[in-house]
Amino acid sequence: MALRCAVFASGGGSNFHALLDRKQAGDLHVDFVLFIGNNSGAPAFERAKKQAIPALHLAPSHFASEETYTERLSAVLHEHGVELIILAGYMKKLPLSVIKEFRYRIVNIHPGLLPSFGGKGMYGSHVHDAVIAYGAKVSGVTVHFVDEEYDHGPIILQRTVEVLDTDDPHTLAERVLKVEHASYWQAIEAIAQGRIKVEKQRVIGKV
Ligand code: GRF
Repeated sequence: MALRCAVFASGGGSNFHALLDRKQAGDLHVDFVLFIGNNSGAPAFERAKKQAIPALHLAPSHFASEETYTERLSAVLHEHGVELIILAGYMKKLPLSVIKEFRYRIVNIHPGLLPSFGGKGMYGSHVHDAVIAYGAKVSGVTVHFVDEEYDHGPIILQRTVEVLDTDDPHTLAERVLKVEHASYWQAIEAIAQGRIKVEKQRVIGKV
């Protein structure tokens, strides 16, 4: 049976789109059983609907307390039998209890080479701004498991992207995003096929 995945996204959702395309192309063997977005206007909702994937608008701000939000989120994940949580540009921190319960079953993609240019506040154009301001010669993509610290869990895959003398944060972001689309599915497929395992901070196996 295919791995049951939930995708969480806040914004454009181009990574979510790329994953759906890979599934359609027959490269990625998972089931997308749930989409959760915290911004009702996110284009990813439309894409989920088109594919008949249950889509839920769920945001911590809808709830009276962190506890009630966590309970609802947890219940929804169980109702849909979610086995892997895929963060695809999701800007909210997941509740600690969900991170604990889904240990090494939550993945995230970061538009830089961790552990550099990561951590709280390092998202979107902030990453590319910082890479260029620092004068780094390579940037790239990191797919990692999520743990209790921002951008910290075991790294599943990294791909490099050269920083050109002519780059500004926008041009660099464009090239990095293309590599994100070309590589996120590979990490997820490796998990789905049981090809990787986690030993302390290291992910062992072929992606
Ligand atoms: C990507 O750059 C990803 O690395 C980061 O958020 C961005 C999401 O882009 N976590 P999109 O919404 O998938 O287009």
